[in-house]
Amino acid sequence: MTAIQLMQRSLLGLKGMDREEIESILSRAAYWEQQSVKVGDALAGRFVANMFFENSTRTRFSFEVAEKRLGAEVLNFSAAVSSVQKGESIYDTVRTLESMGIDAGVIRLKPAGVLQELAERIKVPLINAGDGNNEHPTQALLDMYTMRQQFGSLSGLSVSIIGDIKHSRVARSNLIGLREMGAKVSFCAPGNMRAGELDAPYIGIEEAIRADVVMMLRVQLERHEDGMIKSAEEYRQQYGLTVERAARIAPHAIIMHPAPVNRDVEIDGDLVEHPQSRIFPQMQNGVPVRMAVIERALRG
Ligand code: CP
Repeated sequence: MTAIQLMQRSLLGLKGMDREEIESILSRAAYWEQQSVKVGDALAGRFVANMFFENSTRTRFSFEVAEKRLGAEVLNFSAAVSSVQKGESIYDTVRTLESMGIDAGVIRLKPAGVLQELAERIKVPLINAGDGNNEHPTQALLDMYTMRQQFGSLSGLSVSIIGDIKHSRVARSNLIGLREMGAKVSFCAPGNMRAGELDAPYIGIEEAIRADVVMMLRVQLERHEDGMIKSAEEYRQQYGLTVERAARIAPHAIIMHPAPVNRDVEIDGDLVEHPQSRIFPQMQNGVPVRMAVIERALRG
């Protein structure tokens, strides 16, 4: 595979991906969603390694389901039970799997920036399954797929992303992808959860919940320094999607959240399966979207 083909088949982020390419992935996902055969042979004889150096439920399992539905051979690497515990580096781990003959790797990492360096040294396509607070491109693709399913087009759509923007790779990838697709993105967050480097307007919660798409973000307590929120209840009152606030969202609007959800913090538990919520459909859409991304990595 040439260096250009490798770059074109990898998915390190949505930065630099044009509208046509995003459309092509979403359309291919729609094709896979319509297939009734549960396990096919499109990628029979190809090996994919899922390498998760940080915890995951949705991303990891939906990639695994996607790969198995395409007939690929799947290797699941988990840092917690690997030689990483003996001090082996991320590069040496990925290089080890590459030397065993994998055809593509799906990778989730804690530190931002490491993936780019890996991609410059590894000779098989790599797919970003979330790197630090940098990007989570397949989450944004499945979010855009879910919005397209609801509204037909993303052009002109107003999307409010509410919550812990500072620590959110989902917010970054959605901002990049949605802008490319012609949507209007606004952020809403407390001062200490804002990301000054991202160029999007901040609006108040009452304006934010009037968008076509109200996307709530998890408060990422594991990435917080002490004292970022005084109490879960105070955060809920100021920035949470409460049942009382949800009564004011537009009848055509949808509620989204990448999950996992902190129930009764950023969103009230009763709203998770509200008729306007698309939280579980987002998870469902992760499978066909990741089938399209894996197929692109292995077949171009
Ligand atoms: N949305 C998401 O990335 O969930 P997981 O961390 O469970 O993969």
